[in-house]
Amino acid sequence: MTTAQVGVVIVGAGPAGLVLGNLLLDRGVDCLILERRDRAAVEGRARAGFLAPHSVRILTENGLAAGLLARGQTHTTCLFRSDQGEFTLDYGKLGLGEPHTVYPQQELVRDLVAEYLRRGGEIRFGAEAEEVTDGRVRMRGGTDVTGRYVAGCDGHRGIGRAALTAHGTRTARWDHGVSWLAVLVAAPPSLSAVGYALHERGFAGHMARTASVTRYYLQCPRGTDPAEWSEDRIWTELATRMRTAEFGPLREGAVLEKTLVDLRSDVLETLGAGRLWLAGDSAGLISPSAAKGANLAILQAESLARALEAALLRGDGTGLARYAGDCLSRIWHAHEFSQWMSTLLHGPDGDDDTACYGRSLQYARLESLRTSRSHQDFFAENYTGI
Ligand code: APR
Repeated sequence: MTTAQVGVVIVGAGPAGLVLGNLLLDRGVDCLILERRDRAAVEGRARAGFLAPHSVRILTENGLAAGLLARGQTHTTCLFRSDQGEFTLDYGKLGLGEPHTVYPQQELVRDLVAEYLRRGGEIRFGAEAEEVTDGRVRMRGGTDVTGRYVAGCDGHRGIGRAALTAHGTRTARWDHGVSWLAVLVAAPPSLSAVGYALHERGFAGHMARTASVTRYYLQCPRGTDPAEWSEDRIWTELATRMRTAEFGPLREGAVLEKTLVDLRSDVLETLGAGRLWLAGDSAGLISPSAAKGANLAILQAESLARALEAALLRGDGTGLARYAGDCLSRIWHAHEFSQWMSTLLHGPDGDDDTACYGRSLQYARLESLRTSRSHQDFFAENYTGI
């Protein structure tokens, strides 16, 4: 069975698909979002939370920022700790002088779903796409959905990416060889800023989310089972790596969630062809070390919305022809900085001469960041920029 053709079929209701859907509706392009999970799962998934100024501008200009402007918090500083001490970078006064807005991704997703429905859009939850070919999406259960275009916004394991790579599109990949135990706790932030702690036992991170929920990260070996990490062990290890004996205690609370994140990055060599175009993680996965994933997804969704609008409403395909090139230069810029952050935060394993060399470089880089104004400007511009 086939349902009537729409302008754009969007696979996936994450930040990429939902921003794209909202922008298309606003520009008068009809679309349909297919999402394999149910609404509660999509709206309850705690993930990123740091919105770059560029993302806030896109969301504001498109009437999608009421929640984040009302409830988001502005962050302009971040803090580094190591055995050399602690320093704070006031990146809001460095580089381009711009802040982050901290707004939990699940709240943004909730806002985007509500606004998309208010604009008259249709989302099918519990609708899993199995394959996409030439504008036709085959759904689990046998129905086909067709669009003049299909937007694969279905994440890095999605069918959009699979369809493109099956036709020869290459994927450039990097494995950072590092994993993080990502822990969400029911406790207020312990620091007024994002905290990055470098430690011989591995990296630890502190990221504010809301007044009562905080995200922590603990670097741990690949393959670690989160079940091995009891609440006690988590708090003890965080205290050690964040050097609470020296800098003061963390505000503890119940662990709400603990998952292992392998730090991997990849980028497709092109972001679409013909009737299939990708945005967000489906086009490229970026390690979380510089909080760029959701911001890249929003950037791509906005570019793709403009290109699809031109193609569908004015028969002008130049935007689609330029879409990949425009996005890829910014995607690679973000990857370059994310990679830089990753080597700053993670020292090599082991105790041999090579590891000793790598660790000393890591600390030299940190020291340069502490003392060099031009290094700080570079950091600030790239930390908040996309
Ligand atoms: N059919 C329908 N829906 C699917 C399918 C499928 N076959 N496969 C995946 N999905 C849905 C997922 O359930 C998910 O809701 O696609 C959505 C993809 O959303 P995300 O994974 O959030 O990806 P994206 O929108 O690209 O967001 C990118 O947000 O959380 C941050 O940093 C994170 O980089 C990530 C960024």
